[in-house]
Amino acid sequence: MLWNSGGIPKEAERKVLILLVTKKGVKSGEVEPWLKPFAGTLLQNRLFEGEVNQTFVLPMPKPNPAETVILVGAGEDPLTAEELRLSAASAARTALTMRPEQVLFKVPVSLGSLTVEGRNEIAAQALTEGFLLGAYQRQNYKREKSAYEGIRKVFFFHEEAEVGSEQEEWQQGIRLGRAFAAGTITARDLTNLPANLLTPEDLGDAAVELAQRYGLDVEVLDEADLQEKEMGGLLAVGQGSVHPPRMIIIKYKGGEEWNDVTGLVGKGITFDTGGISLKRAPGMEEMISDMGGAASVLGVMEILGILRPKTNVIAVIPAAENMPSGSAMKPGDILTTRSGRTIEMQNADAEGRIVLADGVTYAKEQGAERIIDIATLTGAILFALGDVATGAVTNDDILLQSFIMASKQTGEKVWPLPNYPEYWNMLKSSVADLNNRPGRNAAAITAGLFIGTFAEGLPWIHLDIAGTAYLNKERGVDPKGATGVMVRTMAQWILQNGQK
Ligand code: BES
Ligand code: ZN
Ligand code: ZN
Repeated sequence: MLWNSGGIPKEAERKVLILLVTKKGVKSGEVEPWLKPFAGTLLQNRLFEGEVNQTFVLPMPKPNPAETVILVGAGEDPLTAEELRLSAASAARTALTMRPEQVLFKVPVSLGSLTVEGRNEIAAQALTEGFLLGAYQRQNYKREKSAYEGIRKVFFFHEEAEVGSEQEEWQQGIRLGRAFAAGTITARDLTNLPANLLTPEDLGDAAVELAQRYGLDVEVLDEADLQEKEMGGLLAVGQGSVHPPRMIIIKYKGGEEWNDVTGLVGKGITFDTGGISLKRAPGMEEMISDMGGAASVLGVMEILGILRPKTNVIAVIPAAENMPSGSAMKPGDILTTRSGRTIEMQNADAEGRIVLADGVTYAKEQGAERIIDIATLTGAILFALGDVATGAVTNDDILLQSFIMASKQTGEKVWPLPNYPEYWNMLKSSVADLNNRPGRNAAAITAGLFIGTFAEGLPWIHLDIAGTAYLNKERGVDPKGATGVMVRTMAQWILQNGQK
C-alpha cells in the first residue's frame, strides 16, 4: 500500500487500474478524459451509475493508462468511511479475477473532503482496510498449488500535486488500515484452520509466535499449571479430549506502569462437538470456528503490537477441545471454578461460559480493571440477530455505549441485549452457585450474564459472535467462512478509550 500524488508512479505495473468514482463523477463525465466518450453509454444503459459496491470492467485500447480499468462506485457524496470500505472490497474482489501482482487505485482529488468525516486519514484507512479485507482468500489444501499469490502492491494516487499535509494524512491512514487489516486477517486465518490442524496446544504455539514477533509477554499454562491454579472450569471442559486444555496469556505493556489494564477474554474452543450433550451432525464442521473469540483477541494484540499505543491490555484465552469420551464431563457434574464459585453442569454443549468463567477470573487477578469477553457463545444469538450483528451484554451501559460508538466507526454491527435482574436470577441452581443451562428463553442473555458473574463488579462487556464470526456466503468486506469480526472494533475502542 503506497500513496502517490501527481499521477501513476513510474515503477508501477500497468495491468489493472481501479477508478473510484462517485455518482456525481459519473454524471459529470469528468472522471477521466478518455472515459468521457463512454460515460453517456454507461449511464443510459445503466451499466455503471457509481453505486457503492458496483464495479464495471473495461478492457482498454492502446495507448492506455493500464490494460484493464475497473470502475468502482463510491456512491453519493458526502461518502462515509464504511462506503469507502465496501467499495474498496468490491474493487479488490474484481481485481483478483484478473490475477494482477500490483494494482493502481485512483482516487478523486481531496477525497477526504468528500467524506462525512472530512479527513483524508480516515478515507485512506477505510480504502486500505476495505481493499485488504476484500482481497482475502482462505488458504486451501489442494494438491495442485496455484502459481498466483495474490495482489502484492497497491498504489493509491491522484493526478494533482500535493497540497498541505495530504501526504502525511494518507501515509498515516494507510498505516492504520494495514494494521487493522493484518489483525483481522490473522483472526480469519486462525479461525479457518480445521481442528486437526489447530488443537489447544497449537493455539498456544500460535499465540507465542505472534507475541514474540511483536515482543509481547506471553505465557501458556498447561494441564499441570491449570490443576495447580484450580481452574476447574477449563479443566472439566477439556477433560474429554486427548488434546489437553491450555490457558493462554499475552500482555501488551504500552504504559509506564501496569495499571488501567483492559482485559480481553476470548473463547478458544478449537472444536465443539457438544461433548456428551452431542450436537447433531449437519453443520457440525462449522464448529472449527468455536475459537473465533480467541482469534479476534489475538488479532487485536497484533494491531497493538504494530501500532504501539500507550495503553495496557491483557489477553486471556481459555483453550480446549469439547469432546465426548470416557473421560468427558457428564451432565450433573459439579465443577469448582478458580473463583471458588461452583457450577451445576447440566449441558456439556454450554461449555463456552464454563471456560470463560476461569478466563475472566484470571484476567481480573492479573490486573484487568475492565473486561471485554468475546465468544461464539450461543445459537440463540442467531435467532435474535441472525448473522448480521454481534450481540452485546454488559453490566455497564455507558461502557457499552462507548464500544458501540467505536463500532459505528469501523462499520461492524453491535446490538445491545437487556440485563434486567430477572435474567440474573435465571442463573440460579439448587445445588451450586450457578447452573449452565438456564433454559431456552433469553438464552443469549443468560449465557452472557453467566460470564459477567465472574467479572465481580468490574465494568464488563460480553460480545456474542456466534452469528457473525463465520459466514456461509461472502458479504461486504467479509469472505465466506471466518470474518475476524470485532478485531477492528475492539482495537478502535482501545485506541480511543484505553489510552492513558
Ligand atoms: N459453540 C456453540 C454456539 C454456536 C452455535 C456457535 C452456532 C456458532 C454457531 C455453543 O457452545 C453452544 O453449543 N451453545 C448452546 C448452549 C445450550 C446447550 C444451552 C446453544 O446455544 O445451543
Ligand atoms: Zn457448545
Ligand atoms: Zn461452543
